[in-house]
Parts: sequence; C-alpha cells; structure tokens
Amino acid sequence: MILAIDTSCDDSAVAILDDAGQVRADVVLTQHEAHRPYGGVVPEISSRQHLARIAAATCQAFETSGLHPRDIKAVAATFAPGLIGSLLVGVQFAKGFAQARSLPFIGVHHIEGHLMAGAGNTEFPQAPFIALIVSGGHSALYACEANFQFITLGETRDDAAGEAFDKVGRLLGLSYPAGRVIDELAQLGDEKRFIFPIALKNSTTLDYSFSGLKTAARLKIEELRREQGEIKEQALWDFCAGFRYAVVHTLLAKVKLACQRRDAKHLVLGGGVVANSLLREKALELGKEIGVSVHIPPKNHCVDNAVMIARAARQRLDAGFKSELSLGVFASRPIDCEKNI
Ligand code: KG4
Ligand code: ZN
Repeated sequence: MILAIDTSCDDSAVAILDDAGQVRADVVLTQHEAHRPYGGVVPEISSRQHLARIAAATCQAFETSGLHPRDIKAVAATFAPGLIGSLLVGVQFAKGFAQARSLPFIGVHHIEGHLMAGAGNTEFPQAPFIALIVSGGHSALYACEANFQFITLGETRDDAAGEAFDKVGRLLGLSYPAGRVIDELAQLGDEKRFIFPIALKNSTTLDYSFSGLKTAARLKIEELRREQGEIKEQALWDFCAGFRYAVVHTLLAKVKLACQRRDAKHLVLGGGVVANSLLREKALELGKEIGVSVHIPPKNHCVDNAVMIARAARQRLDAGFKSELSLGVFASRPIDCEKNI
C-alpha cells in the first residue's frame, strides 16, 4: 500500500493505492471557495489551508478505505513544482509519516504524476510515448523515451492553457476556476461565430503561446460590452465555444507535429485542461487520423489528485528508487532531471 499526498497548489489530496493498482482512497479537499474572491490562487492562503487540512484529509483516507497506518508500506509526496509553502506542508507531513513508521519516502515530480494519471488502465503504454500536459500552471509537450527519461519538446512561452481559461473566465465574470464553466457553456454555443487566433500555427516550433489569444479575447469582450452591455446567453455561449475551439486547436496542432516528427505510436494526455470535453474528443480523432493510440485519464484524475502521485511512486519503487528525507521542495524544476531523485 502506498500513501500519497499532493499539496502543490490549491487542493489537499491524499490517496492510498494497493499492490494490485486498485485505488483504496482518493480524497481531494479543494480550496476553491477560499480563493474565489481573488479570482486565482493566493499562495499564503493555500499553504495555511493545507496545514489546517492535511491531517484531516489523511484520516479521511484511512476511514473511507478501512485501512490502518500499519498497512502502509511507502509514502509519496509531490516535491516540485508548485507553490513552495504548499509543497512544504505535504512533503513534511509525508516525511514525518514515513520516518515515524520507518517507511521509504518517494518524492514525485507533479508533472510525472499527471503523466501517470491514466496508468490505472491496463492499456496504458510503455515508453516511448509523447505526452501533452496542460494544467493551470503548465502547457508542455514531452517525449518519454524510457521510464523516468523525459525530453521537453516544447512549452508555453507565456500563459498556461488553464491559466488562459481562468483569466478569460474572470473577464467574463465567471467563477474561478473557469475552465470547467467555459467548457459547459461552450456546449451550447456556435464555435464559428467568434474566431480567435491560433498562435504559432504556421511555425515549426513545438512551443505554445496563449497571451495573444487572451488579448484577443479581452478586446472582443470589451467590444461586445460596448455594443450590447452585459454578455449573456447566446453571445456568452458562442464566445465560450469560439475560445475553447481556439485553445483546443492550438494544443492539438503541436501534438500532431510532435507525433509526426518523432514517429510516435502512443500519445498520453494529462493535467486539468484534459478534463475539457472538446480536447478529449478532438485528441481521439487526431489519434485515429495519424495512427497513434491516445490515452486519456478519467476526468477526476486529470485535475490535481494524489492517485496519480501514488501511480508515479509505484513505478519508481518498482524500479528500486526512493528519495532521501533531505529532499527539498522546488517551486520550479524541469522534469528532464528527475531520473534519480
Ligand atoms: O491540473 P490542475 O488541477 O492544476 C494544476 O496543476 O494547475 O489544473 C487546473 C486547471 C485550471 O486552470 C482549470 O480551469 C482547468 O484545469 N480545467 C479545465 C477544465 N477543468 C479544469 N479547463 C478546461 N476545461 C475543463 N473542463
Ligand atoms: Zn496539476
């Protein structure tokens, strides 16, 4: 049994995974209410909330699973990247648990966790594969060459895709985090009414950029407000549909390029934005078009959770890795250097 913790951002997540890969507990205490008045995550509020809740979240994991701390054989926690104060709470709690019970401790890179979120499915591929990780903090393409060997193929030059959803949602007056809300409103809209730019479309780079799209969205919101006052109903739905279309096509254009360039057989998706229904649908279509198998985690394991951290830790334990209790926390750290933590 692995006890895993993720406190990298605004969710206190604790999970227990058993030997057979079955999820025995999957607790996520979100802080959305606390951050909502500010339209984004406030780091100081986040770390204080983790501190107040991490023990309760862990107790809840034991209560719901009927397991006891003595059943745990290893403890894992996200050590990078993320909000430094928030990471520290989860890592120190995990180290304390491990030390008190003389158990191995495994530090997991948050992106490696997102990459492994779909590993509960028996069809999850062995390396090599291409991975797209899109969340509130990251938008990047990786080549996973072998277990624990990642090459960053491209990443965002400015905002992450989830950040663009959240910021545009805020301009529209939608509640934080806005990605899911925009996705739902977009289902009712016409994606062809408002056409937004697809950045770096004709460039050979595998990088992303969302700041131009964000500016185009802001200008369109201002124009609509001047013309018709509050943006609501059909105009809002069409706006959301057009915006979602642009984000999804921006993401998948580079995925296609990366898969073709590296002659990939498998594509793995992860991160909160992968909960987006259009991205899920279009990624599967793209896979069929270019002959690549596409692996998408269940929606609740796209957004931050600790099951994905447990799955990544299991792979590391199986390979004989464990971390020192002296392992620090890092606000940013490339995944390319995670071979031996
Ligand atoms: O992976 P995650 O939970 O946290 C980070 O590691 O950042 O991702 C959160 C992000 C937020 O920006 C949220 O708006 C976005 O994922 N998100 C979505 C959807 N559900 C969550 N974006 C688009 N469509 C969704 N359905
Ligand atoms: Zn995340």
